[in-house]
Amino acid sequence: MRIDVLTLFPQYFESPLGCSIVKRAQDEGIIEIVLTDIRDFTKDSYRKVDDKPYGGGPGMVMMPGPVFDCFEHVQRLCPDQGRAIMLSPQGQPFNQQKAVELSRENRLILIAGRYEGFDERIRDGLGAEQISIGDYVLNGGEPAVLVVIDAIVRLLPGALGDEDSAKDDSFSNGLLEYPQYTRPEVFRGMKVPDILLSGDHGKIEKWRREQSLERTKKIRPDLLDTELG
Ligand code: ADE
Repeated sequence: MRIDVLTLFPQYFESPLGCSIVKRAQDEGIIEIVLTDIRDFTKDSYRKVDDKPYGGGPGMVMMPGPVFDCFEHVQRLCPDQGRAIMLSPQGQPFNQQKAVELSRENRLILIAGRYEGFDERIRDGLGAEQISIGDYVLNGGEPAVLVVIDAIVRLLPGALGDEDSAKDDSFSNGLLEYPQYTRPEVFRGMKVPDILLSGDHGKIEKWRREQSLERTKKIRPDLLDTELG
């Protein structure tokens, strides 16, 4: 899989993409992540990427020119046109189902905005879908890009050391994950549930399913309306 990221701050990504699972997935050729600086596509000596909103109002708006030129350049880097996504608080909510869907693509082009937002012609003209990572406003789309990449990478075959790890994640079956324990058996008086020490895999599986359901009912009852299985 190839992910292109269009951003005004390529340096923002250096550390998070350079460690842990995402780094290993890149080192092993499971994913290629290519950062492109939108500012490199400005045509004036100030390298201007934003301007005041028509009609007045606070803040600055991202100009269409550099974003279009950058996008068209990036599209040409690879024969697969890819699926274009703008990160925006006005997008569709990002969730596990969306992560699974995106993890099946060969190429994504993620566009991170800054300032008060994108000139509307960027939305209209690029034919990109919009994704939001939650109902709050970030200073820019960069953290949202990282969230999307992180959630996708762990779903790619071979990215996790243990192939089964993502299968039991919270939300992978529409529920929150069951409680997990490791050694020691007793920690500060708190004991690991006996059933997990019983060796009875049938019973353990049943217990885990019950725990998942109970936890979901208590913390996220909204998820039960859309449970996948
Ligand atoms: N950019 C600013 N806020 C955002 C959000 N909540 N999700 C995605 N991109 C954003």
